[in-house]
Amino acid sequence: MPLPEKNNRVIVTSALPYANGDLHIGHLLEHVQTDIWVRLLRTNNITCHYVCASDAHGTPIMLRAKELGIEPEKMVEEFRSSHIKDLQSFNISHDNFYTTHSDENKYFSELIYKKAKESGFIESRQIEQLFDESAGLFLSDRYVKGTCPKCSAEDQYGDNCEICGAKYEAAELGDPVSTISGQKPVVRSSEHVFFELSKLESNVAAWMKSTPLQEAVKNKLEEWFQQGLRDWDISRDSPYFGFEIPDMPDKYFYVWLDAPIGYIASLENYLNSETKETAEDIWSESANTEIYHFIGKDIMNFHALFWPALLETSKFKKPSNVFVHGFLGLNGAKMSKSKGNFLSMRDYLDILDADYIRYYLASKLSPSIDDIDLNYEDFQQKVNSDLVGKFVNIASRSAGFLKKNDNQIGNDIDLEIYKKFISSKDKITNLFADLEYSKAIKEIMKLADSANAYVDENKPWILAKDDKNKEEVIKISSTTINLFRVINFYLKIVIPDTCSKGERFLNESINSINDIDAPLTNHKINFFSPILNRLEDENLEALIKRGSNG
Ligand code: MSP
Ligand code: ZN
Repeated sequence: MPLPEKNNRVIVTSALPYANGDLHIGHLLEHVQTDIWVRLLRTNNITCHYVCASDAHGTPIMLRAKELGIEPEKMVEEFRSSHIKDLQSFNISHDNFYTTHSDENKYFSELIYKKAKESGFIESRQIEQLFDESAGLFLSDRYVKGTCPKCSAEDQYGDNCEICGAKYEAAELGDPVSTISGQKPVVRSSEHVFFELSKLESNVAAWMKSTPLQEAVKNKLEEWFQQGLRDWDISRDSPYFGFEIPDMPDKYFYVWLDAPIGYIASLENYLNSETKETAEDIWSESANTEIYHFIGKDIMNFHALFWPALLETSKFKKPSNVFVHGFLGLNGAKMSKSKGNFLSMRDYLDILDADYIRYYLASKLSPSIDDIDLNYEDFQQKVNSDLVGKFVNIASRSAGFLKKNDNQIGNDIDLEIYKKFISSKDKITNLFADLEYSKAIKEIMKLADSANAYVDENKPWILAKDDKNKEEVIKISSTTINLFRVINFYLKIVIPDTCSKGERFLNESINSINDIDAPLTNHKINFFSPILNRLEDENLEALIKRGSNG
């Protein structure tokens, strides 16, 4: 897949994290994947807006706030600011991190709902649902447990059985119990609003065909098409934390209706503070805009079925692509707070700098939606051997020779090898553009190997023993520092802090990939100081200790 068109404006999003818990390294995987892509576009001089937000609505948020004894608005804002702080510490370069509980989002949610209604895709129906009389709440599937109607396994959730895999309605469970109050729920009927997805099957199918989705995503969509698309219940009864549906007192939009609309609202809020443009214009069907969503595989149906369908009926532009990643596990197991196998972003940051894990995650990412494992030994080995042993080593072993030349890079550079390094530009750019981060990193490390091999072959430390080789030694070292500079630039989108330190050493700062076409000559650099330390055993022990404390 090529990079987006230079003349188009590009909107990029990461999924909106729920504002009821701390962010963990699984969330980080997604933001690192998105951030590298955004930085790639920016270094290729493509205008792009990277927006995200807190997902503020829904029953779990409402109940959590109640538990904490504070208003949901207050809780959401507290989590939002802590999420922003965490994400910034990892150098995730959002243009805006807003909230779905905002005026802009209310406006766009009502607008998109109205347009869907006007075009005939909204219908009200009576449905029967389990109701918890002591909590005064209708119960969604996750808040009901009971006996499986197929295999009689006890303690199963309201939508499917973990033992036999059967799918059913919550009302079919034997001896149902509300997980909120522990009481037996009753069946109650209520009016709900449906978005008629079943009528939009051919539209979504057309979108799918014209979109270069990942193979696995296409396969999943086709599986859903074969089962037939079902209409989507987009309303919830009071009490609920969300937006009231216009003209329907006590009915609220389901959180998953207004959540993706939060992308548009976050953009609108960003544009309001920066420009005179509106999100309505930029997101309109006819705009020269490309839209890319990065998400985990658990929320594919919302982004690749409901979302394009909603945008179709409201005449907004549909995604240019939906990029899906697998789940991050920790040391061979699923992450789980209760099982003591968990690492929050904050806990990681208390122990290590962002770049170590940014590099490691990038080295594991690909367009596959298979799960990814963060293995601490592998993490330590990869960072130490690639970043410290190969990359930083190029600079540290060459800087000393230029010290004797007043830290001055000469004007004679070995252009043959320099050009070879520059000619990898397109290949590396295309690999990153295609989400082939792991392959891109391997390609960059191959260059680091050849830079080190260049030094090994030329042996400046032997030449330097004789003063008559002075010119030769300066040429070799000036060339090597230039090779370091190219790699430093390729890695800058992955490990920005480390590469800024690399730039400080090089005494220059560059932002466009075209800036590396010509080598640095007759240029004074700074004294070298270590730009990245090795990962030590004690660092990993601290991580393990932190993780198991939950
Ligand atoms: N609020 C919704 C998204 C709404 S988008 C309009 C949501 N929130 S979430 O906090 O549960 O997840 C946010 C993102 O993090 C999702 O893309 C999800 O797949 C991803 N991940 C959550 N846990 C993860 C891992 N362990 N590994 C990788 N990604 C993970 O879903
Ligand atoms: Zn069962």
